[in-house]
Amino acid sequence: MTKTFNYSNPVEIVFGNGRIGELNRYTKDKKVLLITSHGFRERGIIDKLGETNQFEYILDNVRPNPTLSQLNYQYETIKNVDFDLIVALGGGSVMDTAKVLSLQTKGWEYTEDLIKYASGKVADDKITPIIGVPTTAGSGSELTPWATVWDDANRKKYSLHLKNLWFKTCICDPEMTYSIPMNITIQSGLDALSHALESIWNINANPITRQYAVSAAKRIIVTLPKLIRYNNDSFYRQEMMFASMQAALAFSNTQTSIAHAMSYYMTLERGIPHGIASSFTLPAIADAVKGRSEEVDNDLLDIFGEAPSNVLRGMLNEIGVSHRYGDYGIDEEDWNKIEESLSLTNRTQNSIVKFRQVLDCLKSSSN
Ligand SMILES: [Fe+2]
Repeated sequence: MTKTFNYSNPVEIVFGNGRIGELNRYTKDKKVLLITSHGFRERGIIDKLGETNQFEYILDNVRPNPTLSQLNYQYETIKNVDFDLIVALGGGSVMDTAKVLSLQTKGWEYTEDLIKYASGKVADDKITPIIGVPTTAGSGSELTPWATVWDDANRKKYSLHLKNLWFKTCICDPEMTYSIPMNITIQSGLDALSHALESIWNINANPITRQYAVSAAKRIIVTLPKLIRYNNDSFYRQEMMFASMQAALAFSNTQTSIAHAMSYYMTLERGIPHGIASSFTLPAIADAVKGRSEEVDNDLLDIFGEAPSNVLRGMLNEIGVSHRYGDYGIDEEDWNKIEESLSLTNRTQNSIVKFRQVLDCLKSSSN
């Protein structure tokens, strides 16, 4: 066991069915900007929240994978709105958008410069506080201090990382996940599984993050296949949201690792959804890390038993997700480009295995 370590996560967690009803405790007497996506207005959720909360302005045009151009457009829309609290209601893209706009609302006008140069340079009083209401069980963005932003023009991905970008509170109400489509449930759940495992085969892991991650992964491999059969089962929805929260508490202190580092190219260039791109490689990584660290081996044994990669492949199979890269149209040239892209993200260095070791395992298990 690592004898010395630090752990910190300052976000207040409000967890449980129906807890969204307490949002007005936080919005009372505040001028609130609500950030969300179209679907929640269409499904009547915004109107329902409006019965007990007052919103100064509703920005409901967040789309998956926020881009610099979208963020700049959104900033122009809200820059003259007077507000002192942001409520972010949605999945990871909504959370990440809220983080970027929470900086811009205090005078950071140019998103690209902000992403490139803001790290470590923004004081607390420059950030508008955010209450997060996740509607998917997966991204964990409500419990991390960073945001992923895509540069559509230059085909790049940025990670905005500020130590004071933590949310004030997150309201994790499993009932908020009932209305999401099954493919999003699967993608989000696999993203959470990836967060848990990525924080285990990670040089930044410590005894606290390991406990959260092992517990999260155990829950997800049991629960996710059940959700396919029992979509809105109250117990399984609660289990998934709890597991996603545990995974986030783990990777909020370790960051992610090689699966995520490899995934960004696949999402940007091949359009593979984040939750799939960051998880179909997990069985191969489980093979590649075997025998390299006693702690990692023990954690994987605890989660999966003797054959981690077989259990992972079995679970992916059960939920209809291929672990073979050829099924995603990825070829040898892509792997060369993925290897090049790894230098663009510091997630690569968090891994206890090298890319080529993972690729060897991917190739032998994809035939
Ligand atoms: Fe992720």
